[in-house]
Amino acid sequence: MSQKKVLVGGAGGFIGGHLVRRLKSEGFWVRGVDIKKHEFTESSADEFIQADLRDPQVVKAVVDGIDDVYQLAADMGGAGYIFTGEHDANVMHNSATINLNVVEYGREAGVKRFFYSSSACIYPAYNQEDPDNPKCSEDSAYPAAPDSEYGWEKLFSERLYLSYMRNYGLHVRVARFHNIFGPEGTWRGGREKSPAAMCRKVATTPEGGSIEVWGDGKQTRSFLYVDECVEAIRRMMDGPFEGPLNIGSEEMVSINQLAKLVMDIAGKPLAIKNVPGPLGVRGRNSDNHLIREKLQWEPSQPLRTGLEKTYAWIADQVQKVQAEEGELAAKA
Ligand code: NAD
Ligand code: GDD
Repeated sequence: MSQKKVLVGGAGGFIGGHLVRRLKSEGFWVRGVDIKKHEFTESSADEFIQADLRDPQVVKAVVDGIDDVYQLAADMGGAGYIFTGEHDANVMHNSATINLNVVEYGREAGVKRFFYSSSACIYPAYNQEDPDNPKCSEDSAYPAAPDSEYGWEKLFSERLYLSYMRNYGLHVRVARFHNIFGPEGTWRGGREKSPAAMCRKVATTPEGGSIEVWGDGKQTRSFLYVDECVEAIRRMMDGPFEGPLNIGSEEMVSINQLAKLVMDIAGKPLAIKNVPGPLGVRGRNSDNHLIREKLQWEPSQPLRTGLEKTYAWIADQVQKVQAEEGELAAKA
């Protein structure tokens, strides 16, 4: 059998970079595409193309000869990026254009299998108001009421890929990621999510100091380590289930608990200052009933194990940046 050729959109990003490494280890021929090079590592792709997937000519070229597409490219970030409202137009335009191009020109080129990375942000805000009891089962997506334009674009693109599946007989898999974290993820600059932000703040704060946590810190989330996410992506792509599936952890914690866990890992008991900031939904937790039933997948390790690896990596990055760019550069 000839070697299968796969395309990873967003290969220069966090999850895309890890996914390329996994696909290579499984023996695929991999073409990675991203508008930027990976910030932290050399790409393991056989071919890495730095180009803009909003450009139809680029997309027509990169899907040529490809069997499977993993579409992870998006204009995205954590609460500090998607909940301020300042980037709404770009998020909607950039990500929707990428998806419209990839699925249409991919289909024209004969790509048969697509994986699309959607988000827990598609779930209705009205089901995520109680921090102790959020509802995020796959069948609760409608009536739709995502709390951000980022979530609305993800919902639109889910529907886009699923309509291509129905009308053109393509193999489509849609995953709803719940806050994925790990080494080689964005940890500063404004797009970082709370796990990386907490690690950075703890690593840059001297003993006896305090760190800022947005909101009252009682808002809840669950976090999934990136290796677990990549394992679930691969099972989904090759598995039989056609509907959207959550890929997340059910180990829900408050953000203040997350901050304290990071301090414990670092061996640095700091004070927490809860300050105003962009918040998003009040509570969110993955619901893994369906993915357990359909793919026999669930996370294999607790939050703490992944956070230990992530903290070690971010503390190392902080030291490097402090040495090369100065103390302030590592702080924000
Ligand atoms: P990321 O920002 O690290 O990766 C996305 C990549 O897409 C970036 O490298 C970016 O440069 C690239 N990109 C953006 N615009 C592009 C364009 N026009 N052309 C080519 N490349 C472009 O984010 P990630 O955390 O690796 O997320 C991967 C996917 O998973 C995204 O679609 C994201 O929305 C989704 N997702 C992630 C999480 C999470 O917690 N990380 C949660 C839910 C959904
Ligand atoms: N980023 C960040 N930085 N968040 C903080 C901070 C901080 O310093 N302090 C407190 N928080 C709080 C936020 O206010 C929010 O209430 C909570 O931590 C979680 O924020 P994030 O981790 O940034 O994002 P999210 O969980 O709301 O959304 C993320 O996950 C979605 C999938 O579950 C984003 O990455 C989305 O893009 C993603 O789709």
